[in-house]
Amino acid sequence: MDRIRITGGQRLNGSIPISGAKNATLPLMIASLLTDQILILDNVPRLADVGLLQRILGNHGVDIMVGGKRTGETQYDGQTLHISAANIVDTTAPYELVSRMRASFWVIAPLVARMGEARVSMPGGCAIGTRPVDLLIMALDNLGAEIEIDRGYVVARARNGLRGGNIRFPKVTVGGTHTAMMAASLARGGTVIENAAREPEIVDVADCLNKIGASISGAGTARIVVEGVPKLNGARHRVLPDRIETGTYAMAVAMTGGELLLENARPELLQAAFDVLVQAGVEVTATNAGVRVACNGAGITPVEVSTSPFPGFPTDLQAQLMALMTRAKGTSHITETIFENRFMHVQELVRLGARIHLAGECATIEGVETLKGAPVMATDLRASVSLVIAALAAEGETVVNRVYHLDRGFERLEDKLAACGAAIERLSG
Ligand code: EPU
Repeated sequence: MDRIRITGGQRLNGSIPISGAKNATLPLMIASLLTDQILILDNVPRLADVGLLQRILGNHGVDIMVGGKRTGETQYDGQTLHISAANIVDTTAPYELVSRMRASFWVIAPLVARMGEARVSMPGGCAIGTRPVDLLIMALDNLGAEIEIDRGYVVARARNGLRGGNIRFPKVTVGGTHTAMMAASLARGGTVIENAAREPEIVDVADCLNKIGASISGAGTARIVVEGVPKLNGARHRVLPDRIETGTYAMAVAMTGGELLLENARPELLQAAFDVLVQAGVEVTATNAGVRVACNGAGITPVEVSTSPFPGFPTDLQAQLMALMTRAKGTSHITETIFENRFMHVQELVRLGARIHLAGECATIEGVETLKGAPVMATDLRASVSLVIAALAAEGETVVNRVYHLDRGFERLEDKLAACGAAIERLSG
């Protein structure tokens, strides 16, 4: 198992190219199941989760061709995937695959919409909480699917196709909104999705679905209207930049001091996070090339933050902000409202010398003068990167174990940071 070794204390200076968003790429790849025509996706990040989803879709009979490198492209340019779901050979998604990546449960929606049947393993819990799928099932039920739970599998049937309906989510759910949009696109008649998630990745998926012939309006608001169509086509779509990767490197430079240009980043995708950074004393400037983030090392001002669905402060940046606040000049409070158990990084940050007190969903972080390097363990994707951020500012050496979590969602993290002056390297094996 790979590990990452970091020697803290170097400022970050330079440019970091921001990759395509993982959390848009995954539902976009899944949306390819809706059509027998070719969907071409550009700016796809090279991530373990993308590779795993390729395998999962391959199991359903989807052919994916990865475009070769073109002249003038750099190693950081995203990949191009040519995806063809012309022949779906299997509508079952087995436990061995779904349990390795929760988002693969979402295949249930396009499969039942197009094939009239899907049998998908329940994903089970994960490091950040129980994460049920009841709302995704409710959405399909509202669109006329017959649902049965059979030996750990959700079986959805709609022999004569789905029909439009009203879906009102009692709680904002990103996966619920993606799956409802996909299923409704091929349903007979119209669907209204209320209390829909407004995340930029929802808008990106809706844009792509409209390119392949769907009729979706209101994506990005809490009310999405979908007019079903009998058949969808092919199209070409470019994945939007990753706002969580952007926010992560912004927090990293806030932690170490220095100045980074986050190339291709779009500030409107993470305004809430940039507002918090500005409050903390960090300079954030939008430029034509991306976003410039600078911190002169005068110290971080503590903040009070609660995570919430978009446009609020994202839960996927909660761990990174906590790492930054471990060295603030005073006491911060961070409340996690989306997932009940997303504090696995706390004990690891404490190993580096952080002072954090947990009470239910609220963490109190007392800033300390110095962190000290130590071996730490990654537990999930965002938790692991928070340890990297802390290590960049810690005295001495930190080794982050179980790096495969990082590889699920950060493309070439150690190369991107090393190019900007960090003392970071991957230890293989
Ligand atoms: N929920 C239910 N029932 C459901 C679905 C969700 O109770 O049927 C609850 C969840 O347990 C959670 C809340 O609703 O408490 C929100 O969950 P949501 O469905 O929005 O999360 P998700 O779709 O499973 C996506 C991202 C996550 C991100 C969340 C919240 C992808 C592939 N995953 O998950 O990303 O944290 O939205 O923004 O888009 C990550 O990238 O590290 C990651 C975990």
